[in-house]
Amino acid sequence: MGEMDGRAVLITGTHRGLGRALARAFAEAGRPLVVHGRREADALEVAAEVRSLGCPAVEAAFGDLREAALGQRLADAGERVGGVGTLILCAGILGPMQPLLDTPTETFAEVMRINVDAQHAVVRAVVPGMLARGRGVVLWLTSGLGRFALPNYGAYCASKHAVEGLAKVLHADYGERGIVSVAIAPGMVDTDMLHAAIGSDASEHTPPERAARGFVRFEGSVSAEHAGASLDIAPWLP
Ligand SMILES: NC(=O)c1ccc[n+]([C@@H]2O[C@H](COP(=O)([O-])OP(=O)(O)OC[C@H]3O[C@@H](n4cnc5c(N)ncnc54)[C@H](OP(=O)(O)O)[C@@H]3O)[C@@H](O)[C@H]2O)c1
Repeated sequence: MGEMDGRAVLITGTHRGLGRALARAFAEAGRPLVVHGRREADALEVAAEVRSLGCPAVEAAFGDLREAALGQRLADAGERVGGVGTLILCAGILGPMQPLLDTPTETFAEVMRINVDAQHAVVRAVVPGMLARGRGVVLWLTSGLGRFALPNYGAYCASKHAVEGLAKVLHADYGERGIVSVAIAPGMVDTDMLHAAIGSDASEHTPPERAARGFVRFEGSVSAEHAGASLDIAPWLP
């Protein structure tokens, strides 16, 4: 049994894609949840679904990642389910697929705002509660493109490199106070984002349900030995 067993999991971006599958998988694992959607109706829809899957306690929080108030709303929802044990920063965007010199400054900044600045804001709001309880896990969704570059992934690639940096910084600053911060790459998961990225049939890649079960297994065994690392989910896939 992992150290976080039974503690609430807060997942951003649960209306579709990997986030939706994560919400279902952690609900089936019997964990209290905070689910998040951009719109209130989206968050409530996911909350109703996870309740039907046996989630013992669920709070729905909504808002665009760019909203300054979102972090506190998520943190408050976390307190209502007994405090967040694990934060999974899943929501994010691919941004435009184009070479760096064709990417307008505003477009680049928008990708960084959502994939980097907004993640920092959520962490700033949620991690203090973990510190007060003396422990917590933060899983940052990274990508192979957080470690190397491919043509035409400019803004996304730069943003995921920054996410990897943030995961390490959180560990450096708060690892000794019980925060286990890990950047974790899900591999190529069959979602809207992958379809947009590879422009072809993504169905031969990992189904989101399988990736999500891998996250449940990883989170159930996460320990200080993973802290500050950048990992692939592959070894934990069922
Ligand atoms: N799929 C892959 O192969 C793959 C590979 C490596 C890493 N990842 C990472 O895994 C995470 C999930 O990806 P995915 O494939 O599930 O993507 P996805 O299918 O495109 O879903 C993205 C999710 O993020 C939410 N989101 C995006 N921008 C938002 C905003 N401004 N405010 C609130 N919510 C917002 C979306 O909500 P809406 O429905 O409201 O748009 C949606 O729930 C991302 O961080 C991605 O970079 C994915």
